Amino acid sequence: MLSYFRTLVYLTIVLLITIQDSISQHAQFLHLWTTPNCEGAPFANSSGTNVYSLPETTPTVYYRLNGLWAIQLCNTANNCNERIIRVGTNTTCSPVPLGQNTILEITRFGDSAQNERKITFFEQPGLQGASFSVDEIGANFTTRTARSYYFTGTNSWEHKPSGNVGVGNCITHTMGVRDRGFGFTYATFGINWQIGSVKYGCTSNEVPNTTTVPTTSPNSNGGVRTKVDSILMHSLIIALVFLKIVST
Ligand SMILES: *[C@@H]1O[C@H](CO)[C@@H](O)[C@H](O)[C@H]1NC(C)=O
Ligand SMILES: *[C@@H]1O[C@H](CO)[C@@H](O)[C@H](O)[C@H]1NC(C)=O
Ligand SMILES: *[C@@H]1O[C@H](CO)[C@@H](O)[C@H](O)[C@H]1NC(C)=O
Ligand SMILES: *[C@@H]1O[C@H](CO)[C@@H](O)[C@H](O)[C@H]1NC(C)=O
Repeated sequence: MLSYFRTLVYLTIVLLITIQDSISQHAQFLHLWTTPNCEGAPFANSSGTNVYSLPETTPTVYYRLNGLWAIQLCNTANNCNERIIRVGTNTTCSPVPLGQNTILEITRFGDSAQNERKITFFEQPGLQGASFSVDEIGANFTTRTARSYYFTGTNSWEHKPSGNVGVGNCITHTMGVRDRGFGFTYATFGINWQIGSVKYGCTSNEVPNTTTVPTTSPNSNGGVRTKVDSILMHSLIIALVFLKIVST
């Protein structure tokens, strides 16, 4: 009985460490290297929006990232290339050839933990232009336009084109977000919505349309590890219940 108890304690400690590790995976970051394959120490570790000036002799920078970011190269402060949007879970080291550019601007979207109950719409594609956000309280608008959007976490949102009347359109989180328990659901182009009202969750009696946005980025992943995490989480609950029984 004692060795069984010890095994459970050991198992619980292992599981707690694993869960700790999986929680820290939420935090958004973008790390930058000048060395191929992201080897050695990064020259910059960003958790938010930053601008970096690079030596003219640097041909390429390499990055690993977690979360949803925009990366933009500029020659001078007023002469920038098109922004690229990248989403990732630190699975890939990617190169960015610099060409004539010496300024690197990075922008983080959303909350650090990637699970805030908030949706942000943009009037232009590519998460650009005027933006407006809605939290759990919901909001009514005298019709705004959305051409791109993102939201974090295992949340869903309903929006209606004109005020708070009629049939809503439901946006639910992706399967990847569901499996991980955190992350981004977004569309960077291909939508053109009139937004009259937004509310948290899809609770109306109408059957709303569900839009699951495919991830367009090359360096996203399917969240294999998080399935393991959720199994471990369940194992931990069972282990804790056992511990409780054994100790009483
Ligand atoms: C970034 O983090 C790594 C690992 O923690 C560290 O070795 C490196 O010095 C950091 N770089 C900067 C610029 O802070
Ligand atoms: C990102 O992945 C690399 C390579 O697997 C690993 O060395 C590094 O610790 C990870 N960074 C974080 C913050 O998890
Ligand atoms: C939006 O309008 C509806 C209907 O007029 C109202 O019930 C709701 O409380 C409003 N929501 C907000 C956040 O003001
Ligand atoms: C819901 O989807 C159907 C079929 O795709 C479409 O005809 C309808 O206009 C959609 N309704 C809304 C409110 O988007």
